[in-house]
Amino acid sequence: MGVVASAPAKVILFGEHFVVYGEPAIVLAIDKRAYAKAENRTDKRVFLRSTNLGLAVSVENRSFKVEQGDPREAKLKFEPVELAVGRVLEKYGENVGVNVEITSTVPVAAGLGSSAAVVVAVTTAVSALLDMNMPKEDIFKIAYEAEKLVHGTPSGVDPAISTFGGTLLYQMDTGFKPLEVKADIPLVIGDTGVERSTRVQVEKVRDMKERYPQVVQPMMSAAREIVLRALDAFKKNDLETLGGLMNLNQALLYGVGVSDESLEWLINAARKAGALGAKLTGAGGGGCMIALANNEKLEQVSEAIQRAGGRPFMARKTDEGARIEHT
Ligand code: MEV
Repeated sequence: MGVVASAPAKVILFGEHFVVYGEPAIVLAIDKRAYAKAENRTDKRVFLRSTNLGLAVSVENRSFKVEQGDPREAKLKFEPVELAVGRVLEKYGENVGVNVEITSTVPVAAGLGSSAAVVVAVTTAVSALLDMNMPKEDIFKIAYEAEKLVHGTPSGVDPAISTFGGTLLYQMDTGFKPLEVKADIPLVIGDTGVERSTRVQVEKVRDMKERYPQVVQPMMSAAREIVLRALDAFKKNDLETLGGLMNLNQALLYGVGVSDESLEWLINAARKAGALGAKLTGAGGGGCMIALANNEKLEQVSEAIQRAGGRPFMARKTDEGARIEHT
């Protein structure tokens, strides 16, 4: 018998990249989840398998053995997961073996926080299997540490939203604040199908900031101002203003070099089809864009994204963060 846990993916509505430098971001958990099943083993090995990726590794005394799939890929994908399982076992205080099986409905390397969702689901499942009653704060801390292997300077926004769910205002120094968003936020997500590395995208912004500090600093302040105005628009349920602010946010992201042609096509197509606003979400450079539209325009926007070469899908916000599915 084992434990199955899950954690949601996310879309960043405002503030990605700038959040790495201490600015606020608004992020929403969506109804696409990563699942992890944890089971006891009779030996002391940790066995990790991803059904979707066709990869598996076993770990003993922190040494990796690739059991299935491309070794480089397996190491890259499982390193953060292995770190998280290692931290849970350290806290447990006993060297025990576990099997972990991961299944995810979140597109990989697409800006929707799939790696954080996987790590949070695994941490939740393994700690529950060992009856540790781990508080969500600890799950978040472990997932945040693991995220540092994915790119060196994460803001923590991805593990926070996957752990706690809902809609959060996130800032590195103050942490997260749940936002009460009563309104439905009708979003179409458009996947460019272009996989990219968050690490590379974060480095691009760092280079830009180092090269042109006087130019990029005011862009950071503008990003903060956009978030503050968005908070106000949320309170008033003012979707039109939110859409306009998304377009402004996209202009800043383009400016710091993290948009690309595949995203711009979809963003322009969505705007032409009547979206109130559209922008990339997450790290950019490919991955996903989001479009906000009134309900009656959602279908039109979705079709336009498809015609422009993207893979559109609707996403609903979800209040539930990490959760146990069954034991
Ligand atoms: C990635 O989902 C969001 C970034 O802002 C990186 C981070 O916050 O760690 C690009």
